[in-house]
Order: sequence, then C-alpha cells, then structure tokens
Amino acid sequence: MRAWTVASQDDDLRLSEVPEPSLQGGGVVVEVLAAHLPAYTKAVVTGGRGGLLTPLILGPSCIGRVTDVAPDVFHVAPGDVVLDTALLNAGDGDEILVGWVGLGGSGGSERTDRMREVWRDGAFAEKALCAKETMVKLPDAENYPDPARLAFLPWLCVAAAGLRTAGPLAGRDVAVIGATGQMGGAAVMLALAEGAATVTAVGRNKVALDRLAELGPRVRTHQLTGDRTTDATAIGPVDIALDTLGATPTADATMAAYDSLRVRGTLVLVGGVRQDLTIPYSDFMHRRLTLRGSWMSDDETVTRVWNLVRSGVLDLSAVELLKVGFDDPESALDLAERTSGLSFVALVP
Ligand SMILES: NC(=O)c1ccc[n+]([C@@H]2O[C@H](COP(=O)([O-])OP(=O)(O)OC[C@H]3O[C@@H](n4cnc5c(N)ncnc54)[C@H](OP(=O)(O)O)[C@@H]3O)[C@@H](O)[C@H]2O)c1
Repeated sequence: MRAWTVASQDDDLRLSEVPEPSLQGGGVVVEVLAAHLPAYTKAVVTGGRGGLLTPLILGPSCIGRVTDVAPDVFHVAPGDVVLDTALLNAGDGDEILVGWVGLGGSGGSERTDRMREVWRDGAFAEKALCAKETMVKLPDAENYPDPARLAFLPWLCVAAAGLRTAGPLAGRDVAVIGATGQMGGAAVMLALAEGAATVTAVGRNKVALDRLAELGPRVRTHQLTGDRTTDATAIGPVDIALDTLGATPTADATMAAYDSLRVRGTLVLVGGVRQDLTIPYSDFMHRRLTLRGSWMSDDETVTRVWNLVRSGVLDLSAVELLKVGFDDPESALDLAERTSGLSFVALVP
C-alpha cells in the first residue's frame, strides 16, 4: 500500500510502497478515509517539535472505516466509521501519540519507549493498524455527506477538551488567543456551538480574523498589537480565555489573555508556546483566577463533539477543506504550512 514515511531523524517525508498492516493483539485495522495534515507537520518532520521515533509511517489521527479487529476488541467492528485519536494512555502520565511526536505528563519513560515500539506507525497511509484504545466509534458517520471534512474532528476535540476544563460555555464570554490558527478556529466554532454569549477571536492574520467574524454576530475580533496592555483591554473582560498559540517569541499575548479575565475567570493553555509565564501571586489570588492546562482529548469529548456535528449544531461547511493525495508530500506540507484559520488540509487516499 502507499504511505508517507520518515526513514530516519534527518530524512524528509516520502511516499513509499509498504506492506499492508497485519492485525496484532489489541489492534484494529482501518481503511483511512481522511487524515488532517496539521499546519506544523513540516516542523514535526524536521525535528522542531521533539524526536520522532523512526522509521515510521507518519500521521497523528484519521477518520477510518474498520476492516478487521483483533479477537480482544469489542467496542468497534468491521464497517464502523471511527476517529483514530492517536492517544495511547498507560496511566501515571505515560502517554504517547501514535505516529507523531508528543509525550504525556511523564515526559517519557522506559514504558513509553516500549509503547512506541509496539504502536509506532500512524495514519498517513491507505490502511492503518491502530491500538484499540485510540478508536472512537462515530455512529451514523457512514451517512455523513463528506467524510473527509470529519478529519477536522481531532482539532475540534482538543479545543473542546480545553474549553471544557473551564466549565459550561453557555452564556459566558470566551476569548480564543491564536484564533487565526486551525486549533483556534476550531475553538471559536466549538464555543459558538456550545452557546457562548460572545467569542472574541484574537490573532495577527487579518484575513483569517475577517473569516471568523463571518461565523455570526456573537463573534468579536481583535488583531494583536503586540502590546500587552492594549491587547488585554481590547480582548476583555472575558470569563474564559483559551490559548491556542503556536511557538511565540514572548509570552505577551498569553499574558494579555490572563489580564483580560474577569474575577473567577479561567485561562486554559492548549497551544505550543514554549515560554514561562510570570503569574503575579497576589493578583491571581485576589481575582480568584484559575489556570488550567489541557492536552489532547478523551472519548467522551469525541462523542459529544461528533453529536454536535451530526445534529447540525456545529456546521463543518464553514471550514474550507483542501484535499491532497499521496503523490507529492512536499507540496502537501507546504500547503498545510500556508493554511490557517478556518481552512485545513486533509490527506484523502
Ligand atoms: N494541547 C494539545 O492537546 C494540542 C494538540 C494539538 C496541537 N497543539 C498545539 O496547538 C498549537 C496551535 O496549533 P494549530 O494547528 O492551530 O497551528 P497553526 O495553525 O500553525 O496556528 C498557530 C497560531 O499561532 C499564532 N502565532 C504563531 N506565531 C506567532 C507569533 N510570533 N505571535 C503571535 N501569534 C503567533 C498564529 O497566528 P497568525 O496566524 O495570526 O499569525 C496562529 O494563530 C500548536 O503549536 C500545537 O503544538 C496542542
């Protein structure tokens, strides 16, 4: 079958002919219907996001149709359409993303090394062998008109899990910092679908902000100035701020979000910022704030987000889907890197 592989740490992403996966205990084989190509995939391949265990088939998640299951798998069956979340959790912070970079709270251990040896290959392929723990059934998804669009679900689920740590969204004012990225765009859509009173979309890219504004009258936008005080004043006051920023040279935009919170507000961090935050103890205490981190998603959140989509409450037609095939991985990575906001690239075998 055809797959996108990385042979070694210093290799590029390549189109390869590889053997079809064979079933192993605890495994599920899926026919890949579509897989999201994150905007920063090139940085992952070139080592900018931590070590990839090579050689491997790349790909953190997909929408797939189950073709075979091991005898010890009961929650999905051949024919089911599923989301592959890529998240394999052994407990105590030992978590891996199959086919990708990223380790859970333990930061890696002898156990995560063994997990990554057994469950190494990801979803950028015609077929994928997945650990059963990464499979969430999407009931009736076989009737969804454009399954490739569902490849955006993983980002919606990560955003939903982050927002959820701050409690119910209905009637509350939410800000998304980095709304001009794909995670941020997903978060804006999710917050609207869950009844936020207002959603303030914050980012640099004016074109992406304008597209977000078209989602409806509850969306406000703010183009980042880079000045923390000015940005905080324009963003707030909000009850919840979700930070979905990529790697930024300073923590100013994140701290502007902190400053913009109302009393009892919550700042949730899900982005890729690699900066330390200086939290003023007294201010944090007197304003009774909450600071939360959130990583990936959980099965219940996947089901909840899928129900929003299948019921039409969350309409994925607002997202521009750019389909690519296997032939030219380099151009696909370039396209993904240029794609922001309410657009995303999906590999459709
Ligand atoms: N917590 C989790 O479970 C989880 C899961 C998946 C991904 N992530 C993280 O989420 C982050 C965002 O993912 P994505 O797919 O949305 O990436 P993306 O599409 O590349 O978005 C990056 C965002 O960061 C902003 N940004 C980048 N550099 C900036 C700078 N110097 N100053 C201000 N803003 C800057 C961009 O703003 P403009 O477009 O306006 O320039 C954009 O809004 C990634 O870094 C990833 O590590 C976390």
